Amino acid sequence: MKVFRLKKNLKNQITSLKKAQKSIGFVPTMGALHQGHLALVKASLKDNEVTVVSIFVNPTQFDNPDDLNKYPRTFETDLALLQNLSDDIIVFYPDAQDFYDGQVASQSFDFDGLELEMEGKHRPGHFDGVGTVVKKLFEIVQPDRAYFGEKDFQQLQIIKKLVEKEQIPVDIIPIPIYREADGLAMSSRNKRLTTEHRAAAPYIYQVLKQAKTLFAYKNIEDVKEFVTNAMTAHPLLKLEYFEIADEKTLKPAKQKIAGNKYRGFIVVYAGDVRLIDNIQL
Ligand code: PAF
Repeated sequence: MKVFRLKKNLKNQITSLKKAQKSIGFVPTMGALHQGHLALVKASLKDNEVTVVSIFVNPTQFDNPDDLNKYPRTFETDLALLQNLSDDIIVFYPDAQDFYDGQVASQSFDFDGLELEMEGKHRPGHFDGVGTVVKKLFEIVQPDRAYFGEKDFQQLQIIKKLVEKEQIPVDIIPIPIYREADGLAMSSRNKRLTTEHRAAAPYIYQVLKQAKTLFAYKNIEDVKEFVTNAMTAHPLLKLEYFEIADEKTLKPAKQKIAGNKYRGFIVVYAGDVRLIDNIQL
């Protein structure tokens, strides 16, 4: 397996692959890989001749320095997991200074308002950081297809908007949320849960599933109230927000409009670990 640290070396490799007309699939990650990431990698391996996986805890997308410092970093285990899938995967493991040419800062983006909702409100600057890193990664890797998980559904919609606005020639492939057997959405942050909080966390998906059932016959305010009450009643989990939004615009929905698709978006703290999840309603 080839591991590149410097972007100029990876760019040279990509130039050779492009000359040989190889199709390139790309899975951007922040490492601490789990089965959810591996599902993206497997999809890429199936669709493309070459798969590039980036492992980079991107500093510009963290609004909270503590979250950045505590983000799990498990590079050797990540490599072993990838190696297990295929020896041909190209890993990009950039150094922040080289990647950002010594200026670790975000560009500012207008994602037509998608960036102002939910995570945008609660994590100021987060989507500028994501847009900056993903745009740069796309410039270096020049993938034909790039794979993103639906767990970060707002991020997925923002990446689609980025590609549309910046006219980047890449197909964005969404991959459904990968869950533990007990329903907890897989996340690198799950590694930081205490035993107690890990045992409590599947409650989030149980509540989301109940919300989905209620959504079929209740109005939006009632469903939101149900989720708020159910989460408030839990002694170990702390609701940051629950929102029902239109899948396309991500604007909070007030009432159901026939033909529109809605999702429930939730963020919950389990101790100091911020967990995010969503469900199609
Ligand atoms: O979803 C993530 O892991 C990150 O936001 C991404 C897309 C790799 C950008 O750093």
